[in-house]
Amino acid sequence: MSALRKPAKQLQDQTFRTAVKYGSKKIRTEINSVVLILTMEYSNKTILITGASSGIGAATALELAKYNNRMIITARREDLLKEIADKIVNLGSECLYLVGDATSEAHANKVIVEIIQKYGTIDIAILNIGHGPPSNLLTTSAKAIKFIMEANYHTFVNFYVPILQQMKKQKGKCMIAHMNSQATWFGIPMQGDYTAAKAAARIFVDTARMELQHFGIKHILLQTIHPGFVATKASKSDGIPVPNEISEEETAKYVLKGIKKGMNQNIFPLGTALAAKLGRILPRKLLTKILLSQTPPDY
Ligand SMILES: NC(=O)c1ccc[n+]([C@@H]2O[C@H](COP(=O)([O-])OP(=O)(O)OC[C@H]3O[C@@H](n4cnc5c(N)ncnc54)[C@H](OP(=O)(O)O)[C@@H]3O)[C@@H](O)[C@H]2O)c1
Repeated sequence: MSALRKPAKQLQDQTFRTAVKYGSKKIRTEINSVVLILTMEYSNKTILITGASSGIGAATALELAKYNNRMIITARREDLLKEIADKIVNLGSECLYLVGDATSEAHANKVIVEIIQKYGTIDIAILNIGHGPPSNLLTTSAKAIKFIMEANYHTFVNFYVPILQQMKKQKGKCMIAHMNSQATWFGIPMQGDYTAAKAAARIFVDTARMELQHFGIKHILLQTIHPGFVATKASKSDGIPVPNEISEEETAKYVLKGIKKGMNQNIFPLGTALAAKLGRILPRKLLTKILLSQTPPDY
């Protein structure tokens, strides 16, 4: 078997043994940093999930609650948030729920201060808040378009900044994952403002990841999560076509898998991922034709 064909784990072990044999501290350190970046356990951790009162955020919180974590969940609807917090405790994790509007920088800063006062560190932050109702860029007001940017991009940035400053002070590996979408690679009719906001966040995270590398910060992993269509209450009956739709629970399992593997981009399910990839390489005219064939005649 050629070295190139060996499974990754075997190769890693072999390289590590070679490094130890020859006493190469440099190689050992490099191998360790690769392992450090490539995996992220999600048990016995302090985990923040924003927008966890319903949908994907709530389902992911409940899935992570099975692994003895210290969970912090946020959203505006206190009654729903409290219900999820009770379920998290019943599943065996601790839970702190913090109510507030993430379009406010002050709210996000306060959440981070409270977490640090109580737990000292943040291991994983899933910045999940977002909103994508159908829109028509020929009729939508500037106010409505800017609201979508606020709901999807500003809510992310408000949390990202203080969390990153905090994680830079920490030593152990940690992760910020942003809940993006597959409506991020190119514009989609009925979702023009939403795709623009998600694309902005994707490019932001990609660039921040490059800068972490440039400044030698290896213990922080930045991930974008790209679900296809998910059957949540929010997306139900909004009139947007939903090919290959998956459930909230399936989505949560994909999210956990992506965290564990330390992916830079977690794109799922496969069918939608392949279609989106194809869309990126198709000639623009053909892509437009396909997208318009799926678009309702009026909205
Ligand atoms: N559903 C899909 O098909 C799909 C596909 C791909 C990606 N996504 C992304 O997945 C994420 C979750 O979507 P979802 O479908 O699960 O919708 P959802 O059930 O409406 O979840 C959105 C969550 O964000 C919270 N939220 C919204 N605005 C907020 C604000 N200003 N301040 C604080 N919390 C706020 C909501 O709670 P409160 O209302 O209680 O504040 C709720 O907990 C979004 O980023 C969405 O873009 C969804």
